[in-house]
Amino acid sequence: MATIPKMMDAIVKPAAQAGLELRQVPVPTPGMGEVLIKVHKAAICGTDVHIYKWEDWAQEHCIKIPYTIGHEYVGEIAALGEGVQGLSIGQRVSGEGHIVCGQCRNCRGGNAQWCEHTKGVGVERDGAFAEYLCIPASNVVPINPSLDENIVAFFDAFGNATRTALMYDLVGEDVLITGAGPIGIMAVGICKFAGARSVVITDVNQYRLDLAKKMGADVAVNLKEMKLEDAMAQCGIKEGFDVGLEMSGNSAALHQLMGAMRNGGNISLLGTHPAQDGMNVNTVIFKGLRVQGIYGRKMYETWHKMSAMVEGGFDLSPVVTHVFPYKEFEKGFEAMMSGNSGKVVLDWTQK
Ligand SMILES: NC(=O)c1ccc[n+]([C@@H]2O[C@H](COP(=O)([O-])OP(=O)(O)OC[C@H]3O[C@@H](n4cnc5c(N)ncnc54)[C@H](O)[C@@H]3O)[C@@H](O)[C@H]2O)c1
Ligand SMILES: [Zn+2]
Ligand SMILES: [Zn+2]
Repeated sequence: MATIPKMMDAIVKPAAQAGLELRQVPVPTPGMGEVLIKVHKAAICGTDVHIYKWEDWAQEHCIKIPYTIGHEYVGEIAALGEGVQGLSIGQRVSGEGHIVCGQCRNCRGGNAQWCEHTKGVGVERDGAFAEYLCIPASNVVPINPSLDENIVAFFDAFGNATRTALMYDLVGEDVLITGAGPIGIMAVGICKFAGARSVVITDVNQYRLDLAKKMGADVAVNLKEMKLEDAMAQCGIKEGFDVGLEMSGNSAALHQLMGAMRNGGNISLLGTHPAQDGMNVNTVIFKGLRVQGIYGRKMYETWHKMSAMVEGGFDLSPVVTHVFPYKEFEKGFEAMMSGNSGKVVLDWTQK
């Protein structure tokens, strides 16, 4: 068994301002019911970029400064705290990033994704951009060791895409996805894998639309060059889309999606929108739309679906566009901020 050092490298939010810093910090000790994970690979999320830039959202939520950021990762169990059962040292694992209370009505009713006491790994507590990470055993997700770690590194985000896409029956349906960010791109593949007849995705970023095409989009609409109506005609969609997935966080995209839905269509909302950009309630009423907000992943049903899809041949490799050793994390954030990236993975096994 490898010895666990006392100090480790970690990517830390050092102060309440823009920027991140690679620092030496103490390796956490797993307490009762906790697990210490040695991180192999981690992925940069849009949330990490908000924290890096110290945007309004980060200023509200990241209150424990200095602290280690990051919440998308894969690794192996390095140590078990007292009382942990059913897990073993050396086991390949990832982890659910929402740490919930286990006591409230939603937690006890099997809807822990709506726990109002949720604490985010890498947001409200130390995260995974470090050589080691400590989380409650209940959040640990065992991973089939044959799966590619560059893919499992972002299962957390894949879980957002999976939960949003699989909210409704997709077999034979025409799907519109607004926003070809990493999550929208993954959703394209999931919808095709799950049997959608056609998947149309919109964005204004050609690099990302090309990735969406690689993931199987029937039409990847660059709104600067093509009308959504033309994509619909190309796919033979006459009455509107059956399923709509809002994954841009852009209000113009939300309005366009609602306008393009068939009467009686189903919408999942994942992209978070500025408060003042309300949606048109009358469109929901007169079109008889069903609208479901999505937060996080269903614990732990979504994790099962993700692993099962990848084990069943679903190929997420086009989504990974950059892999950097963790010491070059600044390059990773640059790639994310350029917009010309899919998922960016940081390798914690490479010094
Ligand atoms: N609800 C949750 O639990 C949860 C979890 C993770 C992410 N999110 C949100 O989901 C969204 C997607 O995440 P991501 O990491 O892929 O985001 P991202 O910001 O990387 O991607 C959003 C994409 O939308 C595109 N876009 C901008 N304007 C558009 C328009 N008018 N029409 C179509 N596309 C447009 C952008 O060019 C970008 O490629 C974000 O809003 C994020 O904050 C929510
Ligand atoms: Zn994330
Ligand atoms: Zn709870």
